[in-house]
Amino acid sequence: MSLPFFAQSRLGDAWFSVGLTSSFPNIAESGSVTLHEPQLCGQGASTPGCKVFHVPSTDSTHAHQIEADAVLSQNGTALQDQVLVFQYRGKFHAVDNKRCPHSAFPLAKGIPFDIEDFGVVLSAGLTCPKHGWSFDLFTGQSDRSNYMLRRWEVQLRPVIKPEIPANDDGTNGKTDQDQEVWYDLWGIERCCPHCTHHVHLK
Ligand code: FES
Repeated sequence: MSLPFFAQSRLGDAWFSVGLTSSFPNIAESGSVTLHEPQLCGQGASTPGCKVFHVPSTDSTHAHQIEADAVLSQNGTALQDQVLVFQYRGKFHAVDNKRCPHSAFPLAKGIPFDIEDFGVVLSAGLTCPKHGWSFDLFTGQSDRSNYMLRRWEVQLRPVIKPEIPANDDGTNGKTDQDQEVWYDLWGIERCCPHCTHHVHLK
């Protein structure tokens, strides 16, 4: 009897640091800003509104950030094993950049927005600009059919390393509010191929 799911063999830590909270712009505009657009971050610099990481599925020790230009020029299999991390209205999200669940499109070009009902904000979503499908960032649920966006758990942890990266002007890049952003490499939520129910592979 075949099992519907299996965990891949893997190397490396389960959690991966993607930088300080102050290195991520806090996108606050609903429905009008694409994730990769440069914005002011907490370190006072203009930087893309998201970071994209290539995380090999079998060995997280080779995880690394992908430069913004490369992110936007890649497509197809080049987007394999990519995780998109960003901050929207003070919440951090880690989702699959490899492809929009509809028809393969890098979601670094997506547009975050508030999910509202009669003016009450219920959740946050991400719209794929290719065909306009959107996905709830907290549940992964698409607004069409049963397609689900893959997501990873994110944690903010106190900065404990003494060697904080310095700013260009030589001052310390850390602020009092700074925390490190980590996401769970192996706490991957996958869609069950039978019923599209999410399963946790821990
Ligand atoms: S590829 Fe994203 S909505 Fe079609």
